Amino acid sequence: MKYEKEINRRKTFAIISHPDAGKTTLTEKFLLFGGAIQTAGAVKSNKIKKHATSDFMEIERQRGISVATSVMTFEYKHFLINLLDTPGHKDFAEDTYRTLTAVDSVVLVVDSVNGVEEQTRRLMEVCRMRDTPVIVFINKMDRDGKNRFDLLEEIEKELSISLHPMTWPINSGKDFKGVYNLHDKSLLLFTANTKADDDSIVIEDLNSPLLDEKTGEKDAALLREDVELIDGVYGELNVNDYLNGKVAPVFFGSAINNFGVKELLDTFTRIGPTPRDRETSKREVAAGEDKFSGFIFKIHANLDPKHRDRIAFLRVCAGKFERNKYYHHVRLDKDMRFSNPYSFMARSKDVIEDAFPGDVVGLFDTGNFKIGDTMTEGEDFFFTGIPSFSPEIFKELVNKDPMKTKQLEKGISQLTDEGVAQLFTQFGGNKKIIGCVGELQFEVIQYRLLQEYGAACEFRTLPFYKACWLTSKDQKKLEDFLRYKQQNSGEDKDGHPVYLAQSEWFLNTEIQNNPDIEFHFTSEIH
Ligand code: G4P
Repeated sequence: MKYEKEINRRKTFAIISHPDAGKTTLTEKFLLFGGAIQTAGAVKSNKIKKHATSDFMEIERQRGISVATSVMTFEYKHFLINLLDTPGHKDFAEDTYRTLTAVDSVVLVVDSVNGVEEQTRRLMEVCRMRDTPVIVFINKMDRDGKNRFDLLEEIEKELSISLHPMTWPINSGKDFKGVYNLHDKSLLLFTANTKADDDSIVIEDLNSPLLDEKTGEKDAALLREDVELIDGVYGELNVNDYLNGKVAPVFFGSAINNFGVKELLDTFTRIGPTPRDRETSKREVAAGEDKFSGFIFKIHANLDPKHRDRIAFLRVCAGKFERNKYYHHVRLDKDMRFSNPYSFMARSKDVIEDAFPGDVVGLFDTGNFKIGDTMTEGEDFFFTGIPSFSPEIFKELVNKDPMKTKQLEKGISQLTDEGVAQLFTQFGGNKKIIGCVGELQFEVIQYRLLQEYGAACEFRTLPFYKACWLTSKDQKKLEDFLRYKQQNSGEDKDGHPVYLAQSEWFLNTEIQNNPDIEFHFTSEIH
């Protein structure tokens, strides 16, 4: 393998959580360990706070922050780690789902008090679709959380994944004493604001009186009991089961106190996957191939009117990406080169000469890219598994200024390329329907159409509940269905037929009445 050394030192992952579980705090601690930042508080949360939902300038400010922290690259113990940030706000969930296509594994943060929350569930669904390896960090152990056994059971049941504790907590809340590392057989005692390099005490034999001395007799006895039970149930972690997305190692800790975080990071670097091989429309592409290939998973527009460029985020999947070399844009059948590709090392944007599998490169874009685009050294294939999800809110796009029709069409086309929303054209009447996962996106679209394209629009709410992509082996049946259901059907931007259901009841009825038609809730972009 030509680039074996580079590939083997790279780990590309994302931290995911329900808002407020501690993603930002954990990110910051990782960066501190990696030396990418020097002080706590340097990482700004990219959360869009509730009060900001109708404040465009606030969205703009927040988006500015989120692009700066979109990818954070740092070194830790000879490893080069690419941490991809995911928006916390649920209206941007689709952005998060797509970012998950660009990583090789995830760390899931669960709040020990709240347990599994709504977004945890949805994010894990996406991870399971792709068999993404997951490590769970149970955070806020310094608070009176749920019983540790109940919590594990809840996570296993609700997220349909088997867990494997790697550390075990001693109490929680104000009685939280620390964690016992089941792998290293060492004890880490909790003191608030533990320094990064605090040492743990090795306790090979749990019967050692040292344990009683350190934790008190009562807690020592409880720990012995717990560990016996856990060892009996779980045994050694099977790393392959983790890498195949079947078992998730679990750590307990407190991100804000930097407690249990190093254990997590050390294990992650030890067992976390290096850049994985990837499926394409033609064949599996191995990370170790000599020839470069990669795909665009995110596009970010610069909202500053003085800098109209967009940034396309390219995940390198195989080979070596080089500055100023011509690559093949498969969808456009066009060769392109990039004179200023940049990396995200230490949060400053540096122009780079080359990049390797696992890396994310920022490319200045003048409208050539859309999400899911593949770049190669000439071969024609598309990376697959970059889906669009069925939107949840549908509105008709109404042009308020007939003189600006062209601008509106260009604007909406570019914004949907960026993945801000999905565009459907209704068959009966050619209505333009915008589908989003959250209300906030409609405000963003309206604002950006006006600011960037000079096009005024408004939205009319439509009574749809879900959009399903339709396929059938019997083309005639599909065509008939689309004709009968004109008011409820249309096509997406790529010309794929969709059914727009008014309600769950209608959807189920149509599914039942049309056994020859398949209804899909996600669409692969290619
Ligand atoms: P998020 O990115 O997942 O949304 O969560 P974030 O890290 O912003 O953390 C959410 C809140 O939880 C923050 O408090 C943070 O300080 C707190 N937190 C994180 N880790 C721990 C922990 O281990 N223990 C406890 N007790 N709290 C923790 P906040 O008051 O909402 O924000 P801030 O004003 O402190 O920034």
